[in-house]
Amino acid sequence: MKELLTCEQFDWINQTWNKLEEKLSVTAVRSRDKIPFHSKDGLHDDTKEDGINCWTNGFWPGLMWLMYSATGKEDYRKTAEHIEDLLDRAFMNFDKLGHDVGFMWRLASGADYQLTGSEKAKNRQSIAANHLIARYNPTGEFIRAWNAERDGEKTTGWTIIDTMMNLPILYWASREYDDPRFKDVAMRHADNTMVNHVRPDGSVRHIVKHDPTNGEIVGESAGQGYEIGSAWSRGQSWIIYGFVLSYIHTGKVEYLDTAKKAAHYFIAAVCEDWLPRQDFRAPEEGIYDASAGLIAACGMIEIVKLVPEYEKKLYLNAAMKLLMTIEREWADWSEDTDFIINNSTGSYKGKKSHNTYLIYADYYFAEALYKLKGYEPLFW
Ligand code: GLY
Repeated sequence: MKELLTCEQFDWINQTWNKLEEKLSVTAVRSRDKIPFHSKDGLHDDTKEDGINCWTNGFWPGLMWLMYSATGKEDYRKTAEHIEDLLDRAFMNFDKLGHDVGFMWRLASGADYQLTGSEKAKNRQSIAANHLIARYNPTGEFIRAWNAERDGEKTTGWTIIDTMMNLPILYWASREYDDPRFKDVAMRHADNTMVNHVRPDGSVRHIVKHDPTNGEIVGESAGQGYEIGSAWSRGQSWIIYGFVLSYIHTGKVEYLDTAKKAAHYFIAAVCEDWLPRQDFRAPEEGIYDASAGLIAACGMIEIVKLVPEYEKKLYLNAAMKLLMTIEREWADWSEDTDFIINNSTGSYKGKKSHNTYLIYADYYFAEALYKLKGYEPLFW
């Protein structure tokens, strides 16, 4: 990877990594007892009192494990382990456990197990993987996303593109327990997503509604995007990164091709100024989503490692443009604040979530830099 970078890109990676390390070494201690999602007056909020099952709760410990893996500093490990302990409460809140157990425990305990071999972490990750496989609908060959009703409708037969990022915990369980069931379920879900969520032009649908008794498609919804037929940018990124990861774990070439197709759409839509709009097919209203660009960049960096020599630069340059532009425009390096990357958006309809700080933007920004610096392992 290093030999493909320009001097300017190489210097930016090193300088930015140093700034990241400096700021996070402060935040790791200041936020040791918090599970952040948003920020309040520049400091992390804390979801552990009312939102312990929030899908984002793996990102803070995951970020701490990334930094521990790269630096070996004990402060990062202490914070990560403390948050893992706090997260155990989420297992006892069963109704609120959805498909997002992958996001939550793959980064928290999967990373821990990979780095330390902790039996406690293996146990947590195993419980999460078994919860996820139990959400499989064998007739429709898909993993059910959520439990609760949405907009007055039951979600029993709903699939969403975000689930692609939860599949790595299933691939891990197949390897760990030498049991093909987990991988088989993950691949059937990925195959279903490839056909039903990814459009021929590379843009994607957020929510597809199936009849849970026979798997037939009965509708769709814009979900976090602007409207049916639009292109929610973070959903686009989940497909890019999610399908690369499925390719890495299975070797199925169609998954890599799907990731590339979604990446081509993303690059074409964002390349005017490299600042991702929240939805690429919505009126221009100044609603941005930094997280979409950072997740896409992480996926594209993985694509670089997998494609032939003369294709690599397309994805690497796009990833670098996204990272450098987002950092230049939206990063906050002050040590008085906890957040780093601003201007992400939860959903189009949730006006309060527009152009704000979200913990996963910081996680993916750090993950991209970690990979560009050449650190390993990849936690997904
Ligand atoms: N997985 C939920 C989101 O991307 O907002």
